[in-house]
Amino acid sequence: MRIVAIVCLASVVVACGGGGDGASPPPATPTPGPAPASAAAEPQTFPEQVAAGQKLYGDKCASCHGAGGEGTRAPRVVGLDKGALPLDPPASSKYRKNQFHTAADVAEFAVKAMPPMAPGSLKESEYWSILAFDLHANGVDLPHKLDASNAKEVVLHKP
Ligand code: HEC
Repeated sequence: MRIVAIVCLASVVVACGGGGDGASPPPATPTPGPAPASAAAEPQTFPEQVAAGQKLYGDKCASCHGAGGEGTRAPRVVGLDKGALPLDPPASSKYRKNQFHTAADVAEFAVKAMPPMAPGSLKESEYWSILAFDLHANGVDLPHKLDASNAKEVVLHKP
């Protein structure tokens, strides 16, 4: 206990250091520029995600999964009725081990393993946009933005 108390005290002193001469610096003025501007560039709604995701999919995923998600060198990702995004990994899967119950499971796999030459190379928001685009292409439209807080509610296969 005693040691903990001393450590805490020391950190308080460190935190307060610097203002010792009495002339405290003026409070930092908030900078209105870059942060909101870049935040605004991120899609805010499901349709905006679909639009952003369409372009990203074309750039980063279509070369293997097909322009229409029909699957060329890699499994199809559009056409749930034709076996896209199956619950269990296809027998040929090298990387995928997890089941796809919900969109959250697909996201988890895609972030970890796609694209194969650079997994995780996209921003998290970009993966969500691509997934929104893919859901839309599969006839699933959400009334809200798709993200980590609600992807589990998008059920692809009942448990
Ligand atoms: C270089 C080719 C290539 C690119 C580019 C690529 N993928 Fe894949 N993808 C694959 C292969 C191969 C598999 C099969 C994985 C396995 O064997 O486990 C796969 C599997 C998948 C699956 C699971 C499909 C299933 O039925 O199991 C999803 C979802 C997926 N990719 C999404 C994406 C997304 C999103 C992108 C773009 C960010 C992308 N992929 C880019 C080759 C690619």
